[in-house]
Amino acid sequence: MATTGMELQGLNFNLSEEHRAVQEAARDFAHSELLPGVIDRDNAARFPAEQVRRMGELGFMGMMVPPEYGGSGLDTVSYVLALEELSKIDPSAAVIMSVNNSLVCFGLEAYGTEEQKQKYLVPLATGEVIGAFCLSEPEAGSDATSQSTTAEDKGDYYLVNGTKNWITNGGSSSICLVIAQTDREKKHRGINCLIVEKETPGFVVGKKEDKMGIRASDTHSLLFTDVKVPKENRIGDDGFGFKFAMTTLNGGRIGIAAQALGIAAGAYELALKYSQERKSFGKQIFDHQAIQFKLADMATRIEAARLLVYKAARLKDEHKDYVQAAAMAKLFASDIAMWATTEAVQIHGGYGYVKEFHVERLMRDAKITQIYEGTSEIQKLVIARELIK
Ligand code: CAA
Repeated sequence: MATTGMELQGLNFNLSEEHRAVQEAARDFAHSELLPGVIDRDNAARFPAEQVRRMGELGFMGMMVPPEYGGSGLDTVSYVLALEELSKIDPSAAVIMSVNNSLVCFGLEAYGTEEQKQKYLVPLATGEVIGAFCLSEPEAGSDATSQSTTAEDKGDYYLVNGTKNWITNGGSSSICLVIAQTDREKKHRGINCLIVEKETPGFVVGKKEDKMGIRASDTHSLLFTDVKVPKENRIGDDGFGFKFAMTTLNGGRIGIAAQALGIAAGAYELALKYSQERKSFGKQIFDHQAIQFKLADMATRIEAARLLVYKAARLKDEHKDYVQAAAMAKLFASDIAMWATTEAVQIHGGYGYVKEFHVERLMRDAKITQIYEGTSEIQKLVIARELIK
């Protein structure tokens, strides 16, 4: 039976030396290499190509992939610690990393054939190339079973036609996992996931979205017109695609929960610092009880979100059922991200509303965590279904 979330199942929350080292490495990288230029990249909606290349070198692009496939061989707790640190500074870089790790690398590692792993997982895990996960469509976001992209079975290949929308890493990726309908009669059991290379004829990168937040990540529509994909590029058995997408998203939600946690914690840290620098009415604003109450509430709720995120990560590492825990972590952490960033802007007053102080960007970045990899409403649906399992 799934956990109700009312107990922590004897989970050990002590971080090991290795965890601390990963956390510190991520923090150093975020401060030294992501912080410079983060405002400019957001303004210009410019993909952080050089920074992502460095993330590959440092092992952040395939954190949980075993070393024999080019990854860092770390656990999910290490992964959320790293994502949290990167997200405090640059949530755009964090989502690029999260999709590559949680959705693309995880999916290939868990369900790919040995040939698929050698050909695709290795370059993805080393960061040599970037991956994208293509599920959403113009008419199928939350209602993911209603896929209109088709993958017609033509014997030794599939013929793919359709459009995918809001695809993170849509422009920068070389390898795409594309979910498409092969047999409409079979509904969700007639859906497949295909590995599609960007250069394949008929595959076109469409419009780049001009977004409210995470502006430096590139979000595109992708268009498929008679794209021939070899049969050996299907992941799993015929009809496994929807189950593949759902299972992969369960883990992906831990990554987005960690991103949301980092956004909240980043905004809190900035607000705490500012409150000890800024003076009003003859004293530091921290000494006003109104500000103390806000910071105390922020610290408390962020810690609660952190516990949920670590719990979901630990359950995954211990090969226990983490579906509900991941959905709870994402639901709660994304709400806290939206709320805490708004509070951080308020504490900063007028300075909070201008770009230089970072909190307005974190507030804009926070909103998407309540939307992608399943809206908050979808998380509630997942949690509720697990309650009666
Ligand atoms: N884990 C594993 N399997 C699951 C599952 C889960 N969380 N949820 C459903 N399934 C399985 C079911 O067991 C069922 O399989 P069987 O019939 O073989 O038993 C199958 O999927 C269909 O399930 P349902 O009948 O329950 O499907 P549904 O249509 O009622 O609802 C849903 C499913 C939960 C609403 C699902 O459509 C969903 O999660 N939607 C949200 C999609 C989403 O998260 N999109 C995000 C896009 S990706 C993204 O954002 C990436 C990015 O770029 C950042």
